[in-house]
Amino acid sequence: MNRFLSLGALELGEIEELLALARRLERFPEPSALAGRVAGLVFFDPSLRTLASMQSAMARLGGSSFVIAPGRGSWPLETRAGAVMDGAASEHVREALPVLAGYADLLAVRAFASLTDLAADLADEPMATFAALVQTPFVNLESAIDHPCQALADWRTLDELGIPRAGKLVLTWANHPKPLPLAVPAAVAEMAALRGMEVVVLRPEAYAFPEPLAARTARAAARAGGSFRESAERDEALAGAAVVYAKSWASARHYGDREAEAALRRGLGDWCVDEDWFAGAPAARFFHCLPVRRNVVVADRVLDGPRSAVVFQAHQRLWVQMAVLHRLLAGGERRGR
Ligand code: CP
Repeated sequence: MNRFLSLGALELGEIEELLALARRLERFPEPSALAGRVAGLVFFDPSLRTLASMQSAMARLGGSSFVIAPGRGSWPLETRAGAVMDGAASEHVREALPVLAGYADLLAVRAFASLTDLAADLADEPMATFAALVQTPFVNLESAIDHPCQALADWRTLDELGIPRAGKLVLTWANHPKPLPLAVPAAVAEMAALRGMEVVVLRPEAYAFPEPLAARTARAAARAGGSFRESAERDEALAGAAVVYAKSWASARHYGDREAEAALRRGLGDWCVDEDWFAGAPAARFFHCLPVRRNVVVADRVLDGPRSAVVFQAHQRLWVQMAVLHRLLAGGERRGR
């Protein structure tokens, strides 16, 4: 393995090996495993957890990292092929990423969805293009349609909390002031399906998964013997859930049309997860990838109550990313200069 682009691209056995490695690194630290190794972290978009946990993971394994935020302290970068670069971007990724790869043993990139062109976002080409520009090991830190580090951390969270493999995970759409990418919902649904869970996506009709994502989740369920379906009926969907995972995402119906999307959301203020959502699933845990908008996505009493797993969930990012970095970098040849 020298690319970590999507959980679904791995064999189920490889995912299990990464989770076992994460457990081993938590119990038996290897503070010199990546001594002398450097990770280059490129963030086209903001982060709290991903940035901090990747740097912490490298440091805890004895390595180091540098961070590039294009346009915020380093040159704005162009990503489009064939662009006439007479605008804000000073440099193209075609030069910048290979240059950075020469300074590092691994590159990791975050670049969110455009939120303007659904077909292009679903194709998720920019991240594959970035990865193809370099020979170094490469990690997707969230692309248009995937967030494999989050997905792997969520799998570990489910394991650590003792959520059964065949348990019911309800991924619910939630209200938000603005349309958000499909990356986390797509990655979470695929992860839960790969884990063999009963996956239900609860959402208003206008927020149905785009067909390619529904098909991807169904394929994952078929691989692992789980199931996947969508529902707009809250009580029916939530009944018997072991986990309620809230996330907002943009409507495929109005993708790129912010006014139409805003009009749609004005009638959906009650899609804020509250305690009464758990009447049919009293023991269910509450998940969210964070950051989360309190009292818009989820009520304070849920987030601050005993069913909330969100901070524990975020902490799992560290251990699984240590496993990914260890797998990609430990034992390989050090780069010559
Ligand atoms: N969940 C997650 O990826 O958090 P950040 O956007 O803060 O990195």
